[in-house]
Order: sequence, then structure tokens, then C-alpha cells
Amino acid sequence: MALNMKGKHLVTIHDLTREEIYQILDTATMLKLRLYAGEYTPILAGKTLGMIFQKPSLRTRVSHEVAMTQLGGHAIYLGPEDIKLGKRETTEDIAIVLSRFVNAIMARVYEHKIVEELAKYSSVPVINGLSDFSHPTQILGDLLTIREKKMHLEGIRIAYVGDANNVANSLIFAAAKLGMCITLACPEGYEPNQKVLSMTKADFEMSKGSVKIVRAPEEAVQGADIIYTDVWTSMGQEAEREERRKRFQGYRVDMKLVKMAKPDVIVMHCLPAHYDEELSYEVAKSPNSIIYDQAENRIHAEKGILVNLIS
Ligand code: CP
Ligand code: NVA
Repeated sequence: MALNMKGKHLVTIHDLTREEIYQILDTATMLKLRLYAGEYTPILAGKTLGMIFQKPSLRTRVSHEVAMTQLGGHAIYLGPEDIKLGKRETTEDIAIVLSRFVNAIMARVYEHKIVEELAKYSSVPVINGLSDFSHPTQILGDLLTIREKKMHLEGIRIAYVGDANNVANSLIFAAAKLGMCITLACPEGYEPNQKVLSMTKADFEMSKGSVKIVRAPEEAVQGADIIYTDVWTSMGQEAEREERRKRFQGYRVDMKLVKMAKPDVIVMHCLPAHYDEELSYEVAKSPNSIIYDQAENRIHAEKGILVNLIS
């Protein structure tokens, strides 16, 4: 029987059970197949998504907006200059008022506590469209992509190379829920957040997944099914860019590193990518790379999220 997720918030992947994650992925796959078959599925007719953005976006904005359109609903973009989140009125009042107008809120914010506050005061589901702590809609798209390419998720070995940022945190949450084994290669001082490691301890024990932190990317990629990387400098950290460029030398995913993993290893990156930093252009365009399928799957996964939380 289908689980009822209506009204639930999605602030981190940790908010979902294993079964809820699979239900979102199954809804996403079903809607993707229907779209590919040319069927129109207006399940969210008359529904509106309010989208708050404090930071720039290509994928998250466009995929949510098009997802709502393709499901018969509508999305409203509220950029930094529209509602001036944190500057014009309290986050509490924004959440209360906006949730009287729309059926769900998606928010991309600097500080994670802002999305938590929106969720606290909103009477409709709040979806985290990226904060400095987590990026759950990205990872649900990634799980859909991994399942399509590798046919399963449990036991998959992920090597994450680079900065243990919001995307890495969300991958750890997902690995813990679904029994995946993730090894992160990070320079000193850029390891995963202790809070994420303690929050996931019980889930890792239950799912038989694992999380390991190493220094050398060469060690992390041994036996990996997936190599995942992300930018060295995330949005909001621009002042640290030069320092980070120095600290992350040796953490670039290039062909030499890819050849040390399994022959059928897939390379993932949430994009936007910096080809002179964390990922070589050659790898991005190689047959191992699935970065554009991964980007496309944002829209399908988000449909899975929106349909389950709204309808
Ligand atoms: N991956 C991702 O969230 O991309 P955008 O920043 O373009 O939304
Ligand atoms: N870690 C990156 C992800 C961008 C989608 C950032 O937060 O900027």
C-alpha cells in the first residue's frame, strides 16, 4: 500500500524513511515513463509551488518550474529582490503568509536554519532546494540516476572526492538509509560534519551501509561503482576561493583517478562544474560520465517529491 507523505517537509534526506525514498523514486520513474510515452499527467492541476531563491540556480529552478507545468500546476519564482528573505519581514511571517497562498514551498537559502524555520511555521510542505547543510532534491535525482544505471542502490560503493559539503552530507544521509557504502576523500579540515555522522549512525547500523573518511582520492576510488565530486567552493564561500584552490590540489577527478576505480565506474557531479578545478573536462565528456542524465533526472525526481508531498 502507498505511504501517505502528504504535508511532509523535505528539509534533509534524513527526514525520509527508506520506504518513503523508494516511493518517491517509484513515482518519479512512473512519471518519467509517462512523459517519454507522450502522456500528459495533470496530477497537480490547480496547485501552486512557491519557490524562494536567495542564491542563483539553473537546474533547481527550471526543473521545479517545468515539473509543476508538466503536472498541470504552476510555480512562482521569488528571487532575492522579490521578498528579500531575512530583510523585509520575519521568516516566520513569510512562511505563514506564503503557505496561505501556495500548496508547497521550495526554498534555496544560505543558512540551513532558515529552511528549518520556514518548515516550522509553514502549513504546507517545505522542500529544501539547497542550504549550506543539505541538498536533498539533488540527491533524490542522483538516486534515481544510480538506480537506472546500476539497477539497484543497496551495496553500491560511492567514492566522494573533494569538499564534504551540502551535497556530500546529503549523500551520506542517503547511504545510511539505503545501505550504500560511501568513502569520502577530503583534505584536513574539509571532512564531513560531525553532526551528520552522529545523525546517521543508527541508520548505517540498520541498513548495513558504511561511511569512511580517507585523505587520498586514490584510496577512496578503489573498487568504487561511482565517483562523485562537487565544487571546492560552494555558493556563499566565495571569499575562501583562493585558499580552497590551494587546499584541494590533488583532489581533482581526472582520467588517471577514474582508471583506478572499477572499469564500469560512473562519474557524477551535481553541476555547475569548474573544469579547471574539481573535475577535468576530459572526464566530464568521457563515457564514464553521466552528469547530464543526472541533471535531467532532477525534474523526474522532483515530480516524485511534489506529487507525494502535495497530492
Ligand atoms: N545542481 C544544482 O542544484 O544546480 P543549480 O545550482 O543550477 O540549481
Ligand atoms: N555545493 C554546491 C552545490 C551547487 C548545486 C553549492 O552549494 O554551491
